[in-house]
Amino acid sequence: MAVQKIAVIGGGTMGSGIALTAATHGIQSVIVDIHEEQLTRAQAYHAKQIARSIQKERMTETDGKVATENLSYVSSMEDANDADWVVEAATENVDVKKSIFKSMESAFGPNTVFATNTSSISITDLASAIPDASHRVIGMHFFNPVPIMKLVEVIKGKKTSEETTNATLALSESMGKIPVPAHDFAGFVSNRVLMPMINEAFHAWTDGVAEPKDIDSIMKLGCAFPMGPLRLADYIGLDVCRDIMMVMYNGLDENPKYFPNQKLVALVEAGHLGDKSGQGVYEYEQG
Ligand code: CAA
Repeated sequence: MAVQKIAVIGGGTMGSGIALTAATHGIQSVIVDIHEEQLTRAQAYHAKQIARSIQKERMTETDGKVATENLSYVSSMEDANDADWVVEAATENVDVKKSIFKSMESAFGPNTVFATNTSSISITDLASAIPDASHRVIGMHFFNPVPIMKLVEVIKGKKTSEETTNATLALSESMGKIPVPAHDFAGFVSNRVLMPMINEAFHAWTDGVAEPKDIDSIMKLGCAFPMGPLRLADYIGLDVCRDIMMVMYNGLDENPKYFPNQKLVALVEAGHLGDKSGQGVYEYEQG
């Protein structure tokens, strides 16, 4: 049966993008976040994107109104417990996610699917937090900016049922995405390939091979990337990149190729997280 209502846990960049994409594809979407300012930011982002789509004639005024009506914002899971699907999009931290999974199991009905937008953490490990519901847990990894990027990386845990997997493929397609499967290894496919490239760009910078803007220009012009790897690292968030690399380092036999570059770690420790903090590899103007 088609999904009627999605609850997205976490109203950050990924969560707000996932909710917007579902809402513009006719699915009611409620964002759950304990931080009021995240809900306000998500709502402002939604209003801006819907207005832009109407202005660019990608959407009619009526469709824009329907999409807006499909969106809601609450601060507790209990206020979203009529959802038949949950996408957990909280911080990339295994303990935080496991604790959220336990709350999800209590708050939502016995047939709700619990998808996680983790970018690197084992689905089997996350599902172990709620053993009775582990057949309803699956990885549904979206890409930033969610409304634009076509891919959903779909990862089954050891106990994920076929029913859950098939429903995930169907939901991804109904959100206008292309689901592609990957197995449950740390970092899956996307970040196992992407993060070493980003890390290597930091090594090239710190070894003095070239300045950041030249590293990015070379990769953009020479490899047809829309953004160079250092610009992309700022866009993803340097803290997120570091966390993903550590999950892969710990989850893939402590292979040093996944260990984050010292400069990357130092920037994170200085609070220079990329676009979201206004400074990372590059500096950004406010707004
Ligand atoms: N939400 C909605 N739409 C957005 C958007 C957002 N956050 N950001 C940009 N867009 C839209 C713009 O509105 C614009 O469309 P219109 O002009 O028609 O309205 C279109 O995208 C292009 O944007 P811009 O003209 O501003 O800039 P651009 O052409 O440089 O494209 C980009 C921006 C789409 C982000 C492009 O640079 C790009 O594809 N970059 C690479 C992104 C990428 O690799 N993402 C994956 C990161 S990895 C990840 O997410 C997973 C992980 O686990 C780390």
